[in-house]
Amino acid sequence: MSENEHSLKGYFAHVIDSVGDGVIVLDRQSKITFLNPAAEEITGISRRLAVGSKFIEFFRGEDVLLEMVAKTSESGMTISDHENVVLKKGPNVTPVNATTSPLLLANGECIGIVLVLRDISNIRELEDAVRQADRLSTLGTLAAGLAHEIKNPLGGIKGAAQLLERELPDGSELRDYTSIMLKEVGRVNRIVEELLSLTTPRKLELSHVDIHESIGDIITLQKRASVTKNIAFVQDFDLSIPPILADEALITQLFLNLIKNGVEAITDSGQIRVSTRVLSDYSMTKKGERFSRMVVIDVTDDGPGIPKEMIENLFTPFFTTKSKGTGLGLAICHKIVNEHRGIIRVDSEPGKGTAFTVMLPLVR
Ligand SMILES: Nc1ncnc2c1ncn2[C@@H]1O[C@H](COP(=O)(O)OP(=O)(O)OP(=O)(O)O)[C@@H](O)[C@H]1O
Ligand SMILES: [Mg+2]
Repeated sequence: MSENEHSLKGYFAHVIDSVGDGVIVLDRQSKITFLNPAAEEITGISRRLAVGSKFIEFFRGEDVLLEMVAKTSESGMTISDHENVVLKKGPNVTPVNATTSPLLLANGECIGIVLVLRDISNIRELEDAVRQADRLSTLGTLAAGLAHEIKNPLGGIKGAAQLLERELPDGSELRDYTSIMLKEVGRVNRIVEELLSLTTPRKLELSHVDIHESIGDIITLQKRASVTKNIAFVQDFDLSIPPILADEALITQLFLNLIKNGVEAITDSGQIRVSTRVLSDYSMTKKGERFSRMVVIDVTDDGPGIPKEMIENLFTPFFTTKSKGTGLGLAICHKIVNEHRGIIRVDSEPGKGTAFTVMLPLVR
């Protein structure tokens, strides 16, 4: 092999090693001859162990994949599967998009198979988020209609209670009743307003928001508000994250709701940790042309956690387990995150605690 050919070979080896998709090459006997780092990552199989072994030894049970390989080697056709391939790596499963193609020489001779695996777990998460948003928007339309209908009679009750109060002599015991009426009407009104804000579209007031500053302020206030409990607030910030383009008031409301839920979940003592980081391998297209990285903010508490069967309902308006809760907090969080083209999700283990993860595009 000439010097030139040799360095070209090294160059292509680097190219394939750098591809983000998993690439596995098989010879004509279906022995693995090559596996790039992304394939090691997706399958959990090391190159050292796999090379030289039969494909089936490592992929027993992955029926769809085995069938694709068999078909391509029989027919010489390229086969893709976007839906059905799920790789099991220990206890975890990774949904992948798989393609098998014949490995052809210039003269058309087939000397093996190239298998390309693309990890689509992020896409699956996005699909879940879309389904969730759909469900909420149906509910939202209903709630908005209801809220609108309630506002008018509520105004009537408030006016009548105020008139009644004016007619009562000073010191009348009945004034206690009118003041309860007015207070409760005020409460219903606030809920209706919140509900309407949840369901009507609005324009974001964008500015450069330092999320660490916003979260720091919330923590300062929550520390003061929760002095009766023994809560340690931990800030684990990546201070290199620049300000993001967002609506500051809404971002504050978002993290206030999440941190408040954490505080409310802890009965006597515990810890609330807020950490920030940048997710670099997660890019979302904005209007199809621009890519942006995501800022990830985790709000974690070591409270009682959330039972599995409740998780699905958390973001639904009015879902609450608290006697004084409205159940709108997380629904509002969900809306705010959506408006910022982000993602919110929850991980919870009963008895251990809860983590809410918010991902926001790092738009500057
Ligand atoms: N960190 C958490 N730990 C345990 N349970 C939680 C946590 N966050 C939310 N929940 C559960 O989710 C429910 C819904 O939360 P959400 O913030 O939407 O409403 P709420 O807190 O009950 O009322 P509001 O926020 O309107 O005061 C809560 O009632 C609680 O059961
Ligand atoms: Mg709440």
